This record gives sequence, structure tokens and C-alpha cells, in this order.
Amino acid sequence: MKLLIAEKEVQKKVSRLARKISRDFAGRELLLVGILKGAFIFMADLARRMTTPVKVDFVRLASYGSETQSSGRVRITKDLETSLRGKDVLIVEDIIDTGVTLDFLFHRLQARRPRSLKTVSLLDKPEGRKVDFQADYIGFTIGNQFVVGYGMDCNEEYRNLPEIYVVR
Ligand code: PRP
Repeated sequence: MKLLIAEKEVQKKVSRLARKISRDFAGRELLLVGILKGAFIFMADLARRMTTPVKVDFVRLASYGSETQSSGRVRITKDLETSLRGKDVLIVEDIIDTGVTLDFLFHRLQARRPRSLKTVSLLDKPEGRKVDFQADYIGFTIGNQFVVGYGMDCNEEYRNLPEIYVVR
């Protein structure tokens, strides 16, 4: 594995994102919706750096079939416990690759009539896109690389690493 983004750089970026999002939602309460499992560490750090009031909830998604990412068929295996109606909601994701996951969840949650619905992803891999989806807030744009650490795994390993690595 090769180091891609050091812990200090990750933390600086998360602080910057939290500052920007806190400014944009000043005076409002935000519901952070984390997508399990990959987003759990980013979500925890982001939430701690927000200066506006936040609540948190989580969803877990699964893709159908073996060609998971390319099939584009996603379902919710653990739903939110919170009603979104009338709330300001921010979906928190660790990485956008094909865009299938976020595109699916965005439309499903939009149907629940939140007051506003935005998305943040720590990493963006634009070369991987199969559906056109742009997040409102992005930390780092990376190339077509397989990354682990800071919540992201390879066969469930490495999620606890504080920095981000490319697997070679
Ligand atoms: C990863 C990542 C995103 C999704 C992005 O999740 O955490 O949720 O893939 O890919 P996409 O843009 O191509 O849809 P994964 O399915 O590996 O599950 P995990 O978060 O539990 O590791």
C-alpha cells in the first residue's frame, strides 16, 4: 500500500468542509445521514467539527447481483430512524465512484420531502462515473485508484487507519 493522503491533510480538509457547511447552514439544524459502513469515521470527525447543531442517522445500502457497482441496482438494508420531512439533510459519503450509490439514495430521500437535501463526499473519483452525480461538497478529487483507510476497506480490513492509502 502507498500513502495517498496523510492524517494531517485529511483532518485539515475535514475541518475546512465543516467550516464551510456550518457557514452555509448557520442558524439551522442539520441532520447528517451517514452511509454505512465507509462513511462512519468521516461522519464522526465532520460532526465533531460542525459549529451548528447537528443530529445524526445512518443508512446501510446493498447492491444486487455480483456485478454490484455496474448493475446500478441498490436497495436499503437499514433505513433511517428519523423522518426527513421539513428538515435540512446532508448525506455524508466517504467516496463517490460510479455515482450509483449516491444517485439512488439522493432520489429516495428527496421523495421524503426534506426542506433541503445536500451531499458531501470526502473523496471523489470522477473517472469512475456511470451516472452523472455531483456532490455539493467534495474533499479531495482522486484518480482511478483503489483506496483504503479512514473508513474505507479491502475485504473489511484497514477501515481504522487514520490516513488514506492506495492499494497497488
Ligand atoms: C463504497 C463507498 C460508497 C460507494 C461508492 O461502499 O463507501 O458508499 O462504494 O461507490 P459508487 O459511487 O460506485 O456507488 P461499499 O459498497 O464498498 O460499502 P462500505 O461502505 O460498507 O464499504
